[in-house]
Amino acid sequence: MNKWHHLAQQEIIGLHTKVPLLQGGQTRYINLDNAATTPPLRTVTRAVLSFLPWYSSVHRGFGYKSQLSTELYARARQLVLNFFGADPRKYTALFVKNTSEGLNKLAHRLPVSREEVLSSWMEHHSNDLPWRLRKQARFIELTPEGTLDLGDLETKLKTSHPRIRLITVCGASNVTGVVNPLQTITELAHYYGAELAVDAAQLAPHFPMKLAGPRGAIDYLALSAHKMYAPFGTGVLIGPHAAFRTGIPDEVGGGTVLACSREQVIFAPPPERDEAGTPNLIGAYALAVALQWFAQHDLASLARHEDQLTRYAFSRLQTVPGLVLYGPSPDRYPRIGVISFNMEGIPHGLVAAYLSFEAGIGVRHGCFCARPYVHHLLRLTKAEISFYENLARAGKKCELPGMVRISFGFYNTREEIDLLIDALKTLRAEEKQIKNRYRIDPVTGEYLPTTGRVKMFIAQHAADLFKLRT
Ligand SMILES: Cc1ncc(COP(=O)(O)O)c(C=O)c1O
Repeated sequence: MNKWHHLAQQEIIGLHTKVPLLQGGQTRYINLDNAATTPPLRTVTRAVLSFLPWYSSVHRGFGYKSQLSTELYARARQLVLNFFGADPRKYTALFVKNTSEGLNKLAHRLPVSREEVLSSWMEHHSNDLPWRLRKQARFIELTPEGTLDLGDLETKLKTSHPRIRLITVCGASNVTGVVNPLQTITELAHYYGAELAVDAAQLAPHFPMKLAGPRGAIDYLALSAHKMYAPFGTGVLIGPHAAFRTGIPDEVGGGTVLACSREQVIFAPPPERDEAGTPNLIGAYALAVALQWFAQHDLASLARHEDQLTRYAFSRLQTVPGLVLYGPSPDRYPRIGVISFNMEGIPHGLVAAYLSFEAGIGVRHGCFCARPYVHHLLRLTKAEISFYENLARAGKKCELPGMVRISFGFYNTREEIDLLIDALKTLRAEEKQIKNRYRIDPVTGEYLPTTGRVKMFIAQHAADLFKLRT
């Protein structure tokens, strides 16, 4: 048993939960959907539970508990800054609810004007739409195999009018897991007088990230705690104090002002200026504890462990007949443990349904909130995209193009990957019979078994979870 398997046994809540199967009986659940969200760490949950007797309001009371809560919140912020090597004299960390909120806030707050932002065509919608809709962003093109085209980036930086003042890219893709060359991009951005924002939602949980590198420092960084084993509703946006010292925040209210009279409003300095209302102290504390845990257990070694898992999965998936993988192989391009694929002749929704209902394996399918990137990887023409957009308008979700995605956490194992491969091979071998066991749900567009056994379990399980225990 290696270090990570050992830690998984101690730390992952729900590692041994069993789920019902369509064919009867139960099996241990295999979670291969960590890019969406990760299970909580026991260390994090324990810390939260031990704090709950002391929980009180932040910045708003003077009782002991309130002062303790305020102190804890300030320390959580400090810890986040330290973890990413952000000098607190220059940077602030704003607690938000997730990466999406962080990036929307940044798009609202930065005084860059229209067409001065460069995003990329591989982004999650959360790092595309805020810029596309607010700033009419331009987009960095992709290579045919789905990596960033650095030549196009440099050309756009050199020739764009008005001049590009902000580049915003993901650290790693949530579709292919490719890791962007952040140092090169930082250097290019700064050379051409632009700042760099990084959507670190996927990279931060799998790779030791620091703002400052040998070729310059990332200017802004956003991430979600629920992808870092601390699912208590928080995220963070890091950026220079200077960027948040002026302007009107996207949300205003309690806690954001130094003074407010009938005549005028004087906003507080950052971070308070941008944290309207009662903050999510539990979420901030949970994130900080998770980061402490990561620091203790060495993220670089975690990255190596996950890299081995990814390479193993990538090579094993190639043994499944008719399976198409997307993006460059991890032998040629750095990737985190996110792999998307399709099985020729079997809809992605059906693959995901079969894995869930008949093998107890949780994966995701569809376009993963990164449609332009998935269209590119699937090599769809404009006419095809518009055909599918019309289908979507008509509510025919299941016929939309997409992929199946598996994504790893440090606790996943080679044995779990082997079980996935066995299941995919069975699906291929028994394709016809398996297809007959499913129908498309007219409301959700998902594939569902023709018998309702598992759905009945889910409904009962949810009802049970609402039964109050004393
Ligand atoms: C790369 C990337 N950016 C942003 C997000 C949005 O994260 P959240 O839903 O926590 O706001 C995700 C979520 O999957 C993501 O993968």
